[in-house]
Amino acid sequence: MPFIAEDARRPGHTHVLLITTGSVASIKAPLIVKELLSYSNVLVQVAASKSSLEFYKKEDVERAGSRVWTDDDEWTGTFKIGDPILHIELRRWADIVLVAPCSANTLSKIAHGLCDNLITSLMRALSPSTPTYLFPAMNTLMYEHPLTAEHLRVVRDVVGYNVVGPIGKHLACGDIGVGAMTEWKDIVKIVVDRFQLAPKESAP
Ligand SMILES: Cc1cc2nc3c(=O)[nH]c(=O)nc-3n(C[C@H](O)[C@H](O)[C@H](O)COP(=O)(O)O)c2cc1C
Repeated sequence: MPFIAEDARRPGHTHVLLITTGSVASIKAPLIVKELLSYSNVLVQVAASKSSLEFYKKEDVERAGSRVWTDDDEWTGTFKIGDPILHIELRRWADIVLVAPCSANTLSKIAHGLCDNLITSLMRALSPSTPTYLFPAMNTLMYEHPLTAEHLRVVRDVVGYNVVGPIGKHLACGDIGVGAMTEWKDIVKIVVDRFQLAPKESAP
C-alpha cells in the first residue's frame, strides 16, 4: 500500500518522523520509537539510510509499532504519473523531524543541498515551518574536522535547523571525546516537552 500523508495523519495526534543514518547510534532507533509510542496520541514513521540499517533491524522498529521506509520504497520501478511520491508524502505527514543520529555524511549532504536518497530528498523538500532537529554522532576527529563546523553553521544559520549535541563520552570506535549522539531519552524529551505529550494510561 502506498503511503499517503492525508490518509495516514490522524487528527489530534503528533506525527514524529525519525530519520536514521549510518552512525552506530542508530542502534537506539527501536528504543526511541518504543518510548515515543508510550505517549498518548503519537504516531512515528522512520526513514532510514541504507547504512543505518547495519545498526538495527527493521523488525525491531516494526515490533515497537512503527514502519521503516527506505530507498527501495521510494524507487519501486512501478512509478506512474499521479502516484504519491514517498519523500513528499513523508514530509507532508510530519509535525516534527528528528535526524537521530545525523552522520557526518548526511550532515554534509544537507548543508550542500544534496538529495540523492530518500532521507536527503525528504529533508530538501521539508517546509521551513516543520520543526527539525539534528543530533550529530560521529568520531571525535570527524566532529573536530573544520568542515563539520562549517556544515553545522549552514544547517543552523542558513537552513534554520536545531542542532543538539553531540556529547562527550567513550565512543563506539574506542576513542574518548566529543562525538556521541545526545542520550536517546533526552531526544524523546524534546518531543514530549514541545508537544506537551502525556504518557498513555497504564492498564488497570
Ligand atoms: C561500523 C561503522 C560505524 C560508523 N559510525 C559512524 C558514525 O558514528 N558517524 C558517522 O558520521 N559515520 C559513521 N560511519 C561512516 C558512515 O556509515 C558512512 O559515512 C556512510 O556513508 C553514511 O551514510 P548515510 O549518511 O547515508 O547514512 C560508520 C561506518 C562504519 C562502517
